[in-house]
Amino acid sequence: MAEVIIVKDQDEAGELYAKAVVDLISRKPDAVLGLATGSSPLKAYEHLAKLVKENNVDVSRVRGFALDEYIGLPLEHEQSYHSTIRRTVTDLIDLNPDLVHVPGDVLNGAPLSEGSKIAHAGADYDAAIAAAGGIDVQILGIGSDGHVGFNEPGSSLASGTRVKTLTEQTRVDNRRFFDGDINQVPTHCITQGIGTILRAKHLVLLAFGSNKADAVAATLEGGVSSLCPASALQMHPHATVIIDEAAASKLKLADYYRWVYTNKPSWQGI
Ligand code: F6R
Repeated sequence: MAEVIIVKDQDEAGELYAKAVVDLISRKPDAVLGLATGSSPLKAYEHLAKLVKENNVDVSRVRGFALDEYIGLPLEHEQSYHSTIRRTVTDLIDLNPDLVHVPGDVLNGAPLSEGSKIAHAGADYDAAIAAAGGIDVQILGIGSDGHVGFNEPGSSLASGTRVKTLTEQTRVDNRRFFDGDINQVPTHCITQGIGTILRAKHLVLLAFGSNKADAVAATLEGGVSSLCPASALQMHPHATVIIDEAAASKLKLADYYRWVYTNKPSWQGI
């Protein structure tokens, strides 16, 4: 099962992620990072940028692959994940932008109707990840409905990167980024599949706040089911779930996870 670490706040979670990534880069200077957008990983990226600067880590060869992108938004749109990853990760950590990829980059804002462009984009993205040797550490957030990436409930647990239709709930949740207007939120996206995500060597899922508590409980302690796509993490050999007390509040085994982490040998990383 996943390692579950209950932390006091997002800074503590961010420090754990940053240390794991800096250790990885010291072993593998051209490490491949799997990147997520959304609010959950923001502190983690800030801590990574800080640790990289403090330790003078050479990140010039580090590569990145984002999880997902809206279909039909121009790359330069403030809310495209291309722009968001550039702002919150690439520029912040000073990665080489040529080595950081977002699944919609090749589509360049093409609308859904341009099927010929879009049809192969997912398979091409998975091939590019494989050609890079696979993702070393994939950071993940989780939706209140258990989605990871844009794999909404019902997604195949073996899926590759592909076009998906966003649920009404996700479009309602994300309208805050589009002047509160759901009509501006795209209806479709391209997202790494659950199968793609499971091929990453290490998964680090971050969740904070009570609105994630049900999804976290279903992910860790429910059955593996496409109704909660994140529950596929139970099938991964190296998954780390870092959550705050509020997100952990519905876990039956919370005391056990705390005990395990407290007794973890200091030489073991996450
Ligand atoms: C982001 C992504 C989504 C988010 C999830 C949680 O690239 O794929 O799955 O991780 O919607 O969003 P936040 O972190 O904003 O609560």
